[in-house]
Amino acid sequence: MKTTKDFWVMKNEGKKIVMITAYDYPSAKQAEQAGADIILVGDSLGNVVLGYDSTVYVTMEDMVHHGKAAKRGAPNTFIVADMPFMSCHLSIRDTLLNGARLIQETGAQAVKVEGADEMIPHIKALVRAGIPVVSHLGLTPQTAAVLGGFKVQGKDGEAARKMLEDVKECQEAGAFALVLECIPKQLAQEISTTLTIPTIGIGAGVHTDGQVLVYHDILTYGVNRAPKFVKAYANADQLMLKGLQDYADEVRSMNFPDDEHSFTMKEEELKTLYG
Ligand code: KIV
Ligand code: NA
Repeated sequence: MKTTKDFWVMKNEGKKIVMITAYDYPSAKQAEQAGADIILVGDSLGNVVLGYDSTVYVTMEDMVHHGKAAKRGAPNTFIVADMPFMSCHLSIRDTLLNGARLIQETGAQAVKVEGADEMIPHIKALVRAGIPVVSHLGLTPQTAAVLGGFKVQGKDGEAARKMLEDVKECQEAGAFALVLECIPKQLAQEISTTLTIPTIGIGAGVHTDGQVLVYHDILTYGVNRAPKFVKAYANADQLMLKGLQDYADEVRSMNFPDDEHSFTMKEEELKTLYG
């Protein structure tokens, strides 16, 4: 199991950090087998697993339920669990209780918090209480409605300068890593060289200290439309649909189950059965 310190060492040695999302036992098991440095139990589970059109519907209960399953699938990988919508925005006490719950009930190693500004005291409180925090800036899906949709962030100079200030505040507040979502690659590079903590990009170009993609997007599994920054490395939908259709066909044609998949009784036992 890696630690927060290992990720700093990786940054300093120029070794890229591989983060993959996972939400249950099989996906986490695969991510661990694939050698992910970090597994993110993202609130993107709302979209890719639960079928919502936004992450704001994801609850603490959802995160705990899926986090536990992911942990069982990847017991030896550093797991980060997302703090869901409104779970770290009320009192510091609420933030600490929710952060502690995620860590204690799921066995995750760290939590992720979207935003800077008013989130800074919450990040500080979590870290002081002993909960490692990953910050998340750029396109922050929980506040996409306020940002005006899912758009590239920090494209103009002023917004870019504000983001540079924000990321520094997150680092000073004690975040041990930073996810940068949907920002120009030049800005991501500038942030990555300015900060001492590692940056992990999604739609942020090649110069961040690591990359993260959503499991279902990497594998083309049940997703409707993937954003521009997604590269699909497999087509699980095609493979899985073919398997299900072949099964249905063989049931209807009575080619399944054949003798290889059936149990038989001995002849003499059959005599007893028929009397
Ligand atoms: O929920 C998630 O999957 C995320 C990543 C996109 C960084 O927050
Ligand atoms: Na998320």
